[in-house]
Amino acid sequence: MYEITREKPQDAAAIETLLDLSFGPDRHRKTAYKLRENSEAIPELCLVARKEGKLLATISYWPLTIGGKTPALLLGPIAVQPDLQGQGIGVGLIRDTLKIAKERGHKLVILVGDPGYYGKFGFVSAFDQGFQMPGPVESHRFLVCELADGALEGVSGMVEGVPAAKKKSACR
Ligand SMILES: CC(C)(COP(=O)(O)OP(=O)(O)OC[C@H]1O[C@@H](n2cnc3c(N)ncnc32)[C@H](O)[C@@H]1OP(=O)(O)O)[C@@H](O)C(=O)NCCC(=O)NCCS
Repeated sequence: MYEITREKPQDAAAIETLLDLSFGPDRHRKTAYKLRENSEAIPELCLVARKEGKLLATISYWPLTIGGKTPALLLGPIAVQPDLQGQGIGVGLIRDTLKIAKERGHKLVILVGDPGYYGKFGFVSAFDQGFQMPGPVESHRFLVCELADGALEGVSGMVEGVPAAKKKSACR
């Protein structure tokens, strides 16, 4: 069995290796990565799955605003070691982190991913909601999830990253 814990600074190298393996080295050119530039991941929402010291999976969340004022979270990246996919690790990480996010009062989560996978967590089209990304994105993969009833009401516009005041995160 594996354990799910908060990411630690010493996990950084193994996380980068897993993300390169999962998404390729070009991943930094994606629009979702641009949203994370100069930003700081949210430590309590950066989790890893680990077994006997080996990193099996990673998930992180980053701060955003929508339409210049409404706070939201960016989910991702999430990745599971290729030989361990399909065993429920990804679903476990997403459910755990969405629960923590809700408990902490976050109301909206955005991501770019497969609607077939994320629909079961409550993600729907962000494009249909009138959200815009500051770069190319496949519209059907641009998704949003309400963590509080009515959180999407009256919200639309450009999704933007939130630059950190200064880099000092225990996460990333
Ligand atoms: C996507 C990913 C995080 C899912 O984690 P996982 O641990 O393999 O997934 P789980 O075992 O928790 O869930 C498996 C279920 O999701 C389904 N699933 C997995 N990927 C899917 C996808 N892209 N679209 C639709 N369904 C998907 C599986 O068919 C399975 O369904 P079932 O439970 O009905 O059999 C993992 O496969 C991964 O790291 N992929 C490579 C990186 C990536 O694509 N990350 C997501 C970018 S948005």
